[in-house]
Amino acid sequence: NWSMTDFIDMQIEQIRHKVGDKKVILALSGGVDSSVVAVLLHRAIGHQLTCIFVDHGLLRKNEADQVMSSLHDDLGLNIVRVNAQKEFLDRLKGVADPETKRKIIGHQFIKVFDREAHKIKDVAFLAQGTIYPDRIESGLGVAAKIKSHHNVGGLPKKMHLKLIEPLKYLFKDEVRAVGTKLGIPDELVWRQPFPGPGLAIRVIGAVTPDKLRIVRDSDAILRKMIKQAGLNRKIWQYFTVLPGFKSVGVMGDQRTYDYTIAIRAITSIDGMTADFARIPWDVMSKISTEICDKVNGVNRVVYDVTSKPPSTIEWE
Ligand code: XMP
Repeated sequence: NWSMTDFIDMQIEQIRHKVGDKKVILALSGGVDSSVVAVLLHRAIGHQLTCIFVDHGLLRKNEADQVMSSLHDDLGLNIVRVNAQKEFLDRLKGVADPETKRKIIGHQFIKVFDREAHKIKDVAFLAQGTIYPDRIESGLGVAAKIKSHHNVGGLPKKMHLKLIEPLKYLFKDEVRAVGTKLGIPDELVWRQPFPGPGLAIRVIGAVTPDKLRIVRDSDAILRKMIKQAGLNRKIWQYFTVLPGFKSVGVMGDQRTYDYTIAIRAITSIDGMTADFARIPWDVMSKISTEICDKVNGVNRVVYDVTSKPPSTIEWE
């Protein structure tokens, strides 16, 4: 029954011992797990750690800047930000199948990461934010067979790196407690789960810059208003989806023919099963009005009232 402080001290000592004077690289996603590992390693070995943050252009609004400002500017981590938006979009062009999209993104991610990793000399270790439930889901469970996750597994292949996975026995709530103890701001520590392929799997079918804009801007409005309503810690995940069809609407005395945005908001304890969140109607009403007002190209908002199973949390 150890405390978080004991855990941190113990890990720092072990990491220092293991790493010696070698270098460590880490793929920073901006998620809770990789951020906590990054800060923990930074505490232990400072600038012997290089974080590679691949901005694939599929992140949420302002997310990449926030990660840089908290972890690089405030906490002093050594982070290489790679602006790879264009190469990801190019690869995804015209690709509609969800699993193919995931594979392309996973593949491209490894390629970009590998390229950056080879620029750093004397790297001997790869740190990963693997947590206990990841290992269960990817190794033994059925979840991995339903959708391919790419969080676990040897990256980059040819460098023969040894793995450092300090969180591999922790559950999410413990990871958050460690993060808070390490001084990581709440907005990162309490970040909702966000899929590796990002907004690409929230634009149903082929991704275009305009569809990304719609899903990103509507998502930012949803998040702002859920927070204003004080619901952000009560709902496990909340986001918007662009199904990609258009429907008829009216604005003033004009007929419109624009996209529908779906809101997905669920409560859950582990993401394995979920129920749709009972968001008060008045909050819903404001969100819907704001999205149609502010996001060009949207004239209808619908709410997904399905649990998991039979649905999944994401739409793709
Ligand atoms: P589903 O949609 O399968 O999602 O009910 C369960 C949880 O996993 C997240 N998710 C992903 N995370 N890569 C990830 O890292 C993925 O490809 C991926 N697909 C889904 C999802 O957001 C939810 O938290």
